[in-house]
Amino acid sequence: MNQAALHRLVSKRTKNPSPQASFDQRLNTNLSLIQQLFFSLYHIEKHNKDFEKLLKLLPKLFELRPETLRKQDLNRLEAGPWYQSEQIVGMQLYVENFNKDLKGLRKKISYLKDLGVNFIHVMPITTRPKGENDGGYAVNSYYKVDPKYGSQKDLLALTSALRKEGILLMLDFVVNHTSDEYSWAKKAKLGNQKYQEYYYTFEDRSIPDAYEKVLPEVFPETSPGNFTYIPEMEKWVMTVFNSYQWDLNYTNPAVFMEMLTNLVKLVNLGVDVVRFDALAFLWKQIGTISQNLPEAHELVSLFRMCLQVVAPGTIFLAEAIVAPTDIIKYFGEGPRLGNECEVAYNASLMALLWNSIATKKTGLLQRSLTHVPGKPKECTWINYIRCHDDIGLGYEDRFIQDLGWNPHEHRKFLLDYYCQRLNWSPSRGLLFMYNPKTGDGRITGSAASLLGLESALEQKHQQGIELALAKIIMLHGIILSFGGIPMIYAGDEIATLNDYSYTKDEAKSGDSRWVNRPMQDWGAVDKITDTELPQSKVYNKLKHLIAVRKANPVLADHNNVQLHQSGNKHIWVYERSDGNKQGIMVLCNFDEKPQVLDLGWIMKLGYFTQGNPIDLVSGTKIEVNSGLLELQPYQIIWLKKH
Ligand code: GLC
Repeated sequence: MNQAALHRLVSKRTKNPSPQASFDQRLNTNLSLIQQLFFSLYHIEKHNKDFEKLLKLLPKLFELRPETLRKQDLNRLEAGPWYQSEQIVGMQLYVENFNKDLKGLRKKISYLKDLGVNFIHVMPITTRPKGENDGGYAVNSYYKVDPKYGSQKDLLALTSALRKEGILLMLDFVVNHTSDEYSWAKKAKLGNQKYQEYYYTFEDRSIPDAYEKVLPEVFPETSPGNFTYIPEMEKWVMTVFNSYQWDLNYTNPAVFMEMLTNLVKLVNLGVDVVRFDALAFLWKQIGTISQNLPEAHELVSLFRMCLQVVAPGTIFLAEAIVAPTDIIKYFGEGPRLGNECEVAYNASLMALLWNSIATKKTGLLQRSLTHVPGKPKECTWINYIRCHDDIGLGYEDRFIQDLGWNPHEHRKFLLDYYCQRLNWSPSRGLLFMYNPKTGDGRITGSAASLLGLESALEQKHQQGIELALAKIIMLHGIILSFGGIPMIYAGDEIATLNDYSYTKDEAKSGDSRWVNRPMQDWGAVDKITDTELPQSKVYNKLKHLIAVRKANPVLADHNNVQLHQSGNKHIWVYERSDGNKQGIMVLCNFDEKPQVLDLGWIMKLGYFTQGNPIDLVSGTKIEVNSGLLELQPYQIIWLKKH
């Protein structure tokens, strides 16, 4: 039982506790865990006083929590893991690209509702440096709205409107680093010792050099190395991401407490889900790659356990784009099981789907997912196809080898396939952080362009257009039915193509991820009733699938995804079932040719007890000839058990 479940149990014993009494109860329930986590990070002899400070801080932070949110906290506490519901469908968007500013976004709530979206990840909106700022991931403040988006009042008006409409909000908490213009960084530059200790600062290169021996580079092309010399303070500072993003020094408990305060101020604006940005990097240690260290997990759990006391209705999403076995650990292990992040990005599924599109085969997908360890029952995934970042090729070599492929050559093939280095490939992706020496690289591009729509439209190739649309729909059909929260990337619902305008902007041209951060095409939305247009075809199908998802509780995430062996290397099959009467069997053909599937084993699972079952995607009964089911190129079927 995780702490949230424990809170539920304990709170049931008291009738209508006051918010204060409920806070005390939660503090008592979490206290020993908080203490244990705190002292495993900060030595007890040196930091006893700091722990006392933390204990004084928590009630103060609770005082800041607005009344409405306190009520919501109690309701959510009672509801249990509300985020596993089949009712939740997400969209990730940039405010400025979606509809100019926060007021503009509020005006588009009806659009979200029409599609069926009720959870939005709004990309960074707080103040940031004027020039390069990594799309707002270099933060000047953790909770002050950048004037280009509007005011604090506008944000509060938005969050209250969202609450009224039952739409959840996710905002980023850039927990690993601040910008070099953040108030602490500015003071550090002026020589203030206290704030220099908020970061990893060094007089000379000796310690940085020791780190560099094994530290990988996140942005080798644009920001090589992990340290930046700051002439004003005549010191080196650790900058794992861009040179203007200074890594916070969490070995200093003052940093933890200040960041906890920042976190509470952020969630008090009406945030339901906190996207814990780059959390794998939170703890550094010489001689290691300084990612996924045990202390990083303890720190995340410490944040979690404290926030749970102050604002229990808010949950955490782990932004850990790391190997599957490492991702799963962000749900917590051992005594921290279910006590770290409630949600994590299913980056493995995402990357594997792109592999299956390029290879037209499902072997690596099936093999890799079969080996992903089970997750705690209180946790869930965010399933997605594209986001604002690149697609990394983080597959496990041993599984690639199992299929008889050479991992290095296979990754090269994927880069070639997606990044316009094969003339037969329909894909229009771009390379990201390509290293010609090693051949390593990542991929960017919009879903539609990567899936061939851009090239097919250009060549006016009707069949190519249809295939691309089928691929877009199939991949969305997967994230809408695989266990977890589906997160649609704004624009993908109307098959938006690559946006090359970033190349003309100096602050963006060095970062090809901008090719997939397009303006929302409201012109296409206006024409959605013209059902023959490619954009409308995708929109209307997704709208239908979202509605179907919401009508089928078996699609809620109760760790009830079962992968099946389809018997055809192009076809991927998984089942969502309650182990009894309810079930949906998802079948996807990753090939550009029709493929057949023997239905014998599906029949044995009870899908044909009342004749041929319905495919919820097309809304019609499936046709079966001589026991074989034919799937069209890139067709997805959701077979419903009677
Ligand atoms: C996350 C964001 C990415 C950003 C990085 C640094 O990975 O998704 O866009 O560059 O954090 O903050």
